[in-house]
Amino acid sequence: MTKNILKHLAIIMDGNGRWAAERGLSRTKGHEKGAETIRAITTCCAKHPTVETTTFYAFSTENWKRPKFEVEFLMKLLNRYLQKELETYQSHNIRFQAIGDIEAFSKPLQDRIRNTEELTKYNTSLTQVLALNYGGRAEITSTVNTLIAQGRTTITEDDISQGLQTPYTDIDLLIRTSGEERISNFLLWQLSYSELYFTPTLWPDFTSKELKKIIENFEQRTRRFGGVK
Ligand code: IPE
Ligand code: IPE
Ligand code: MG
Repeated sequence: MTKNILKHLAIIMDGNGRWAAERGLSRTKGHEKGAETIRAITTCCAKHPTVETTTFYAFSTENWKRPKFEVEFLMKLLNRYLQKELETYQSHNIRFQAIGDIEAFSKPLQDRIRNTEELTKYNTSLTQVLALNYGGRAEITSTVNTLIAQGRTTITEDDISQGLQTPYTDIDLLIRTSGEERISNFLLWQLSYSELYFTPTLWPDFTSKELKKIIENFEQRTRRFGGVK
């Protein structure tokens, strides 16, 4: 049997708060540790021979419901992360891209995001996508509205696929950490035929070693896409 090829990996990074609570720490400490995991997993993916894109769910359209203090901390952490990460992006030849409605963020943070995209746009070993103020329903709705504004009255599946912000729309494998088994409004359109993997590991404890095991599991699965095999 030929192995499945993993090109686009998506990850719902969940469990930062529980990781911190287990240690009697504040939730923000869990987010800080979680940011280190993003770095480790990204560099591992950049070295992987087939992975082209890794999309991380970093802040959902629903996460604004969290306490103001936590939301503000996450914004500051993102700014710090991108500032620090530029060196990693350049030394590992990684392109950074954001999806989601970042206009809701402060101007300096929007500038940081756009500058990082600009400075890394010719890097080719991996595209790291961060989903920021992202919701799958919002993304589909805004795509359809753009098509309507262009004067379209009928819309095809291809129109929507091509209009989405996500680079390379099909996701081969989605991993969610922390034991929760739900999609939480992540890439609804792009996940139609993705393989799903749920691990009880909390995001700050997730390692490249576990990722490699999950990829091996994915490679052995039978993907039918509605056909027979
Ligand atoms: C994921 O960890 C990070 C974000 C959603 C920003 P959580 O903060 O959701 O951690 P838990 O689910 O409360 O443990
Ligand atoms: C999903 O995690 C969003 C991100 C990882 C950014 P949540 O912790 O917000 O999801 P729910 O509320 O448990 O579904
Ligand atoms: Mg959570």
